[in-house]
Amino acid sequence: MTDRLDVTFLSLDAPLEPLVIALAGAGLALGHTAIGLDERAGGALHRAAEAAEFTGKAKTTLEVLAPQGIAVKRLVVIGCGEADEAKDIDIIGLGGQAMAQIAARKGKRATLISELPGMSGRRAAEAAADMALGAVLRHYDFRKYRTSAKRDGDDNGETPARDGLERLVVACLDPDAARAAYGRRQALADGIILARDLVNEPANVLGPVELAEATRVLERAGVDVTILDEKALSELKMGALLGVAQGSPRPPRVVVMQWHGAKSKRTRPVAFIGKGVVFDTGGISIKQAGGMEDMKGDMAGAGCVVGLMLALAGRKANVNAVGIIGVVENMPSGAAQRPGDIVTSMSGQTIEVLNTDAEGRLVLADVIHYAQQEFKPKLMVDLATLTGAIIVALGKEHAGLFCNDDKLSAELVAAGEATTERVWRMPLSRAYDKLIDSKTADMKNIGGRWGGAIIGAQFIQRFVKDTPWAHLDVAGVAMDSAKTDINQSWASGWGVRLLDRFVSDHHEK
Ligand code: BES
Ligand code: MN
Ligand code: ZN
Repeated sequence: MTDRLDVTFLSLDAPLEPLVIALAGAGLALGHTAIGLDERAGGALHRAAEAAEFTGKAKTTLEVLAPQGIAVKRLVVIGCGEADEAKDIDIIGLGGQAMAQIAARKGKRATLISELPGMSGRRAAEAAADMALGAVLRHYDFRKYRTSAKRDGDDNGETPARDGLERLVVACLDPDAARAAYGRRQALADGIILARDLVNEPANVLGPVELAEATRVLERAGVDVTILDEKALSELKMGALLGVAQGSPRPPRVVVMQWHGAKSKRTRPVAFIGKGVVFDTGGISIKQAGGMEDMKGDMAGAGCVVGLMLALAGRKANVNAVGIIGVVENMPSGAAQRPGDIVTSMSGQTIEVLNTDAEGRLVLADVIHYAQQEFKPKLMVDLATLTGAIIVALGKEHAGLFCNDDKLSAELVAAGEATTERVWRMPLSRAYDKLIDSKTADMKNIGGRWGGAIIGAQFIQRFVKDTPWAHLDVAGVAMDSAKTDINQSWASGWGVRLLDRFVSDHHEK
């Protein structure tokens, strides 16, 4: 796993590193520390601000080089606009912007002065911790296979070599309080980084067995991990999942991850279910070559679930949660399933597989049935890179949300707004459901030409009994999504923050 950057919290009067990042609110509002620095430097900061017409507007920066009177090489001031209106997500973003400034200068040692004008006490500590989180997430870079780029200066001209950062100090009012507040955020960062790593990893390295084994790292955090192998899946009669897997020489797995954090072990769990197709060629209904490499990320739903379980356990969330991922590879071969094949799912319902590229729903059908039978969850959320159609509908700013329960839906929408991992509710109805009726089996795995993301969701719903359930189609947001202040990587780790927030706001205690 990519190492998480360590952050050192020190007080505001601690010695400064050669590169210093400070913050300015609108009207060049500075914190006491920055004012002190400016005074010692004979007003260099104010002179530079005036010369550059820097006023602290959001998304602008000012750099002061080698100011006299203070032992600092470069002082970079980041504008943050009306700071007193900043929400936690804005402050996390500021941390990301600070890291971008550090990386652009290839800084080896840097101090981030986390003082925001007008902020004090507990809020200041939380803000310092949020900035650290943002900086750590922005620092993430999947570089394990770039052997030459590890040399200084060799960075393809695109991404500055970021592994040069040796020390990040976050200077703050109360370092002990900030360090304590950072604890749960560090667990969150670990979960996000794990999710990104799993999604970025190529499929030759991360097959179904390898992905299943990778979840063992959760055991160290106190999660019970059970891996069901092919024999176990046959005994459970997961015919839909096994049909997808049969074209690959690499056998499937289902992984069950349990975190018992609630006071009573018997409290019904919340369940998170992930599509884990380590590579989706389409099978016999093979995909076109262009862009097929992206299908190494077709296990992003599973990656999110694994990362989320690590985050929940790492911060000792007061909840019983179960994560279940269906892990297969969708390949064409002499053993692969054919269009027209009819499989019997674990639920007993039969499915006519008219397109082997609509495989994610087949995997989820069995895992969702299993989740309900085995755990009687109080609710379930599944995540899947299920359809290209959801990208056509929503682009890369929202995941598609399909839900049979208004309260659950509202909670997810709210968590999405709070974290900016946004979801947009899409319809489910009897009329769409009819489109997957089959003449020869209980249902078919594709509908007509239109509403492809809805069809996928309707299919999954046929395996949901009376459990509150939400399906998140994350094809547009989990990979190759819009770059943000806190993510520059191909794999975004989307959903870990959303669902961690969903749990902490609505399902703890
Ligand atoms: N994994 C794909 C969906 C996908 C497409 C994810 C692009 C990310 C980016 C899924 O298994 C798939 O192939 N869906 C088909 C469904 C169709 C055959 C009904 C699709 O979207 O074309
Ligand atoms: Mn597919
Ligand atoms: Zn797929």
